[in-house]
Amino acid sequence: MAASVEKTLAEQGVKSAEQVAALFGEVRSQAETDLRGVSTEKQFEEFRNQWLGRKAGALTKITDNWLKQAPGELKKSVGQEFNKFKTALEAVIEERRAAIEFGEEAAADAKDRVDLSLPGVVRSVGSRHLIRQVFQEIEDIFFSIGFSVVEGPEIETPYYNFEALNIPEFHPVRDDMDTFYMELPKGAPGQLLLRTHTSPMQIRTMEKHKPPVRVIVPGRVYRRDNPDATHSFAFHQVEGLAVDTDITFCDFTGTIEYFVKQFFGANVKTRFRPSYFPFTEPSVEFDASCVFCGGSGTTASGTCGKCKGAGWIELFGAGMVDPAVYGFVGYDPKRVSGFAFGIGIDRLAMLKYGIDDLQVFFQNDVRFLKQFP
Ligand code: DAH
Repeated sequence: MAASVEKTLAEQGVKSAEQVAALFGEVRSQAETDLRGVSTEKQFEEFRNQWLGRKAGALTKITDNWLKQAPGELKKSVGQEFNKFKTALEAVIEERRAAIEFGEEAAADAKDRVDLSLPGVVRSVGSRHLIRQVFQEIEDIFFSIGFSVVEGPEIETPYYNFEALNIPEFHPVRDDMDTFYMELPKGAPGQLLLRTHTSPMQIRTMEKHKPPVRVIVPGRVYRRDNPDATHSFAFHQVEGLAVDTDITFCDFTGTIEYFVKQFFGANVKTRFRPSYFPFTEPSVEFDASCVFCGGSGTTASGTCGKCKGAGWIELFGAGMVDPAVYGFVGYDPKRVSGFAFGIGIDRLAMLKYGIDDLQVFFQNDVRFLKQFP
């Protein structure tokens, strides 16, 4: 700031209009010099305080020391020069402010600028869970022979989960399939449970559709099992059902064998063993030759640990639909026949991919998941 603003005009010996103009000229060039030294926002603030500050800024001092104390004959020219000076000062200040803001923005931009030559950040892409992949494989195989996919509720009524599948309340097989029952409000119309198998969808499908029916039902099921290498309270199944007017046991075995060979490979051998399920008659258990020892029961290191030397591995349950089941869905057991099967997906995935602990499916450890991209 110019020192002259601290003194009155009289103190500086200014007596004429020309001298007043010269004095303002000096102050103005001082202001311009000061302003040229301003390059940051902070310096700009200081400059504004010095020149425009209400209390001690140069403009206030000029008003107090020059204008208010000017002798009468100089008042007019001081006023005019002062106004000119203020206008000029405002203009240069504005110009400088814009330049500084622009400069700082440009500097900030330069700092934030994306450097396209740097190596990128690789985000890993997720993949389908192995169980989901196996569902998909199975669905594709059954699609190819004319089945369609339906899904059903995981919370079921005892009627669909048991009774309509020919499992009355005190039937002993219920012991194997004891399950989780929902806690319901008082006065609820009936019990609800977590389905123990995907078989209830046999009933729901036949209730809705007249024969012919060809469906598979992928889904999650629940049982009161303690977790270990082959058990879990939640696991996965694919149910299958085919009903028509002329379906025979041969259609049944042909379909199942076709599926197993597609899934495990053409070299796998298959066999049926008699079994029992309340909703099929006859019922079978379906085995495949052990995929680990090729059915021989032995490996290089001795007895095959997977089939325990038997050469066969149990795959799933199946059978011809029991005529009693048709009674629950309004089908005429004299006219229709069909077959059903229930495949444990976790078990199938373990066999196909050589996994020896069921629990890894539920732990979601990426080291496991990444092996099945
Ligand atoms: N629902 C049976 C279970 O979970 C599996 C099963 C067996 C399903 C035979 C079927 C069948 O459709 O015919 O143990």
